[in-house]
Amino acid sequence: MIRRNQRSHNPEDTRPNPRHIAIIMDGNGRWAKRRHLPRVAGHKAGVNALRDIVEHALARGIGILTVYAFSSENWRRPEEEVRFLMDLFITALQEQVQDLHENGVAVGFIGDRLAFSKKLQKAIADAETLTQANKAMRLMVAANYGGRWDIATACRTLAAAVAAGKLEVTDLDETRIGRTLSLGELPEPDLFIRTGGEQRISNYLLWQIAYTELYFTDVLWPDFSAPDLDLAIDWYKERQRRFGRTPEQLADIDSA
Ligand code: FPP
Repeated sequence: MIRRNQRSHNPEDTRPNPRHIAIIMDGNGRWAKRRHLPRVAGHKAGVNALRDIVEHALARGIGILTVYAFSSENWRRPEEEVRFLMDLFITALQEQVQDLHENGVAVGFIGDRLAFSKKLQKAIADAETLTQANKAMRLMVAANYGGRWDIATACRTLAAAVAAGKLEVTDLDETRIGRTLSLGELPEPDLFIRTGGEQRISNYLLWQIAYTELYFTDVLWPDFSAPDLDLAIDWYKERQRRFGRTPEQLADIDSA
């Protein structure tokens, strides 16, 4: 495992890391099915995978990790699975938050948390309060989140500010809209990873991934481990991000 990491940890590798990685943790159900286990066992294994990935991202100096824990559409799953997931979030938060805190990780949540039980809302608020000043890494958990919800919520906030006379219609530019979305001032993801073989965005961070490099892997989320993250980061480092420019323009900028 360590061996596969060595290339990425090579001190001569000066290519910049992604500052922000966004992940869709897909494949828990299939992982469990392959083992003849109930789907929920896959979610439990998924929490362990997440813990390892957070630890490794921290070691790799990744500044922000945003993970999709529960989409606005996931309420459509069987009631029993939804209930299990809610309990799992509470337990995972209670069990992991101290460790995250001691490692300097600031935890934040994006999404409509008002739909969650009071107990889960409290676990979320407690985790955010405890860890808010931490600087080593930011772990953003998207829960009851949808990209369209995010944009619609920002539109409502901005429309209300215009109606109240606090903003002009002409103030509503891309920067202002971006800042009003739930990730606020955080830099947009540089690298998006989806595990589990599907090649879809599934209503995740729609606005924020406009220029993000998209990486898809067949590895099921519970099996996604440190070397898999290293592979994704190495892949990212090979990409040439042009932001609409031509390769020749980039070469000119590089040599200037
Ligand atoms: C998708 O796999 C996974 C989820 C809907 C849940 C992901 C949640 C975790 C890994 C736990 C995270 C915990 C915290 C505290 C942030 P799937 O069920 O859609 O898998 P399938 O596509 O194989 O059916």
